[in-house]
Amino acid sequence: MRVAAFTELGGPEGVETIERDEPEAGDGEAVVEVRACSVNRHDLWILENESPLVNESTLPFVSGLDVAGVVREAGDAASVSEGDRVVLCPNQTCGECEFCREGPENLCRSFMLYHGGFAERVAVDSSRLIELPESVGFVDAATLPTAYLTAWHMLRKADVSAGDLVFVPGATGGVGVATVQLCDVIGARTVGTSTSAEKLERLAALGCDHTVESGNVDEIVGEVRAVGPVDAAINHLAGEFTQAALDVTKRGGTQVICGRTAGATSKFFAPNFFLSQKEIVGSTMGTQPELEKLVRLVADGRLEPVVGATYGLDETRDAFADMDSRDAFGKLVVEPNN
Ligand SMILES: NC(=O)c1ccc[n+]([C@@H]2O[C@H](COP(=O)([O-])OP(=O)(O)OC[C@H]3O[C@@H](n4cnc5c(N)ncnc54)[C@H](OP(=O)(O)O)[C@@H]3O)[C@@H](O)[C@H]2O)c1
Ligand SMILES: [Zn+2]
Repeated sequence: MRVAAFTELGGPEGVETIERDEPEAGDGEAVVEVRACSVNRHDLWILENESPLVNESTLPFVSGLDVAGVVREAGDAASVSEGDRVVLCPNQTCGECEFCREGPENLCRSFMLYHGGFAERVAVDSSRLIELPESVGFVDAATLPTAYLTAWHMLRKADVSAGDLVFVPGATGGVGVATVQLCDVIGARTVGTSTSAEKLERLAALGCDHTVESGNVDEIVGEVRAVGPVDAAINHLAGEFTQAALDVTKRGGTQVICGRTAGATSKFFAPNFFLSQKEIVGSTMGTQPELEKLVRLVADGRLEPVVGATYGLDETRDAFADMDSRDAFGKLVVEPNN
């Protein structure tokens, strides 16, 4: 079978379609024919040699977390059957630590993520497969497991509720668009930023209440303050956006950070932070039951995931190039069997 593998690290030119042995379903596993697998910046970090998970000695490497497809083989003791339409929760947990026992599972001491979805078929832990209602398409389902799940968990951590104002710096990518849409589901208002006027037009059409076209944090802080104090900031950029998010958050408000696209190190002015009693909270992924909820929101027509573009397996390299060049809007999805 064919897979889109990273054969060298550096950039999109390192993505190639190669042959791999067919996967087999071990105990408790299922082989899934991959109809869709979305791209995350996490995959791009790996490709750019910015992740400790992969190095030159572990190539070729097949990335891809967000698998949706059809079960083609169920191993012994598998919890799914041949023909089931499914989406994978990429969480991998030990099942034994205090966080696995007591929850939330995404705090597991050995928390890891599944990789390997840019392939025609995959063998996965069947207990991590969620059945898809007929009304949920594979491409839509493949957008959910990382971007939408992470955004949902962050909004819950910030206790966002109807009427709140939420600041979303970098609101036009996977996590950003997901945050804006999920705020709409909750009834919260959003102020989102981007360097692209065209992407912001699309974001406003999706329901973003206030848009700020800028990449300059001072300018962004001024414009967001003009809208009003924000209750929560959903920050996947970090770098200098951490101080910016603190500057616009109301007294006692919460900032949740899940990423570092604008820089792994953030400096912030401590007195302003503690005197106004703000909170900065870290967050990673979410739980499988939360992903099940997101599937239901799509099935009920309350959430329509945004797919910026789809690609065949041989075009996976183009998907990475589009993410790298900041041309993408919403989620980019590879369809390996098209
Ligand atoms: N911890 C977790 O569980 C978790 C889960 C998911 C994602 N993440 C992290 O969250 C971040 C976003 O992931 P994603 O998949 O949503 O990425 P993405 O789709 O590539 O995000 C694109 C967005 O980021 C903005 N952006 C790109 N480069 C930027 C830069 N140098 N400075 C400022 N803004 C920039 C873009 O702004 P323009 O519109 O101006 O181009 C766009 O709004 C990544 O850091 C990722 O690793 C973490
Ligand atoms: Zn555990």
